[in-house]
Amino acid sequence: MSSSALSLVAVPRSAFVCSNCAHESPRWHGRCPGCGEWNTLVEERAARGRAGGGPSSARDGGRPLRPVALSEVEAPAVERLSTGIAELDRVLGGGLVPGSLVLLGGAPGIGKSTITASALGHLAAAGRRTLYVTAEESTPQVRLRAQRLGEDALRVPIVADTDLEAVVATIEAEAPEVCVVDSVQTLHTEGLSGSPGTVGQVREVAGRLARVAKHRDVATVLVGHVTKEGSLAGPRVLEHLVDCVLQFEGERERAYRTVRALKNRFGSTNEVGVFEMGGSGLVEVVDASARFVSEATRAPGSVVLCAMEGSRPLLVEVQALVAPSELVPPRRVASGVDRNRLSLVLAVLARHGGAGLGSSDVFVSAAGGVRVEEPGADLAIAVALASAARGTPLRAGGGGAVAPTSAGGGAASADDRPLAAFGEIGLTGELRYVAHPERRIAEAAKFGLEPVLSPEGPARTLRQALGVALGAGGGRSARAAAYTHGGRGPGAARAEPASRPP
Ligand code: TYD
Ligand code: MG
Repeated sequence: MSSSALSLVAVPRSAFVCSNCAHESPRWHGRCPGCGEWNTLVEERAARGRAGGGPSSARDGGRPLRPVALSEVEAPAVERLSTGIAELDRVLGGGLVPGSLVLLGGAPGIGKSTITASALGHLAAAGRRTLYVTAEESTPQVRLRAQRLGEDALRVPIVADTDLEAVVATIEAEAPEVCVVDSVQTLHTEGLSGSPGTVGQVREVAGRLARVAKHRDVATVLVGHVTKEGSLAGPRVLEHLVDCVLQFEGERERAYRTVRALKNRFGSTNEVGVFEMGGSGLVEVVDASARFVSEATRAPGSVVLCAMEGSRPLLVEVQALVAPSELVPPRRVASGVDRNRLSLVLAVLARHGGAGLGSSDVFVSAAGGVRVEEPGADLAIAVALASAARGTPLRAGGGGAVAPTSAGGGAASADDRPLAAFGEIGLTGELRYVAHPERRIAEAAKFGLEPVLSPEGPARTLRQALGVALGAGGGRSARAAAYTHGGRGPGAARAEPASRPP
């Protein structure tokens, strides 16, 4: 086909789109007018339809539509497709929705191809029509991986090609119920200039696959690589196109990987699935709390955080290290916890907790490669830091002063159980309520980590909480008072510890 002849008839409109902020401009600029980044504009085909660009109206021939009451809209019960991986199903909101488009993002080597191949294997074994499109690896490479994953994964039909037109034609011909495209950045279309992986290409690839997914009712999983900055390549340009954005996280060197939904039209975005990479693929970590608690070191600077991952409580060990610094400014290293929250906690500790760490290097990490970024982690970070600074271990029950109420470790083991904590810290040093306190406390109780240091207890300020966690003065009754005890115990007076913590 002669494209130049075509261009005389219907002038092909192209637009220049910023790969950073998705700003659209009819002309190329060296610097994006939207976000000011340099060299980020790339050419792409302009949106089709509505040639004039304006909204259609009755005057220019549009037919008015008849609105219907939402209650009259038919909502067919969709049967979800189970991926056979319970943790993944839960994050998806109960399995894949037929005809939906899911973007699975993650750093190279995190396990995207592994999890999608094993999900397709389970679906194929359950009698679903599946298709694996690899544009990144050769078919023998994919076979080698599938061998490690087991029998099921070997059933999945596979094609290897990087040409979008060929892939779309294959999907239409094969009409699978579930299709994986690995990856969206390696497919390309001839219709656009630009190499594979550029924003224009990625957007076009995803757009075409989205249309096929909807028309042919193919649940499609697009695998996408994440850029260094942590955003999906072609940032933001894909998110509105797809129904669900899943982010695969964790560090390659660490055991645990998590999958969380950043966007989900068919479920909650709070759910997190925890996995572990093993010899034969990703293994679900069903009772993640048990793992993390049993691994807790109980050394100074270690505390168990009662976090919430969506609707599920999760106990995570938070560790802190405080060391004399030779640097100005000293180091603040956060891994798995929010850096900004760490800064805030450090500031409040210095101002209201009597623990200034201005001349020390500070390291805080959530053990196991888990990421906890909720404000509910503040108190755990604070007590871990104070404990590390002082070299005093934190113990549940404050040395047996408080007998646990429910089953779990008895008084004899009280000295050996790590301290569990949660709660947000306000700028004035007060402890603040966080969501689902009862579920967090119940999860800790399951492991005998009672009582829990939290805003639910009588301690109202960080200073009071530190007083009891570190046993700095206050004595046993005050120590008991600041803990949460399921219900409030007899010693629930608001006692301000007599002496200042370090
Ligand atoms: P992969 O799924 O290819 O990652 P991605 O598609 O996200 O780039 O695999 C990730 C890593 O996991 C790879 O380095 C090899 C390792 N791995 C295992 O340790 N065990 C296994 O059973 C498999 C299949 C992979
Ligand atoms: Mg891969």
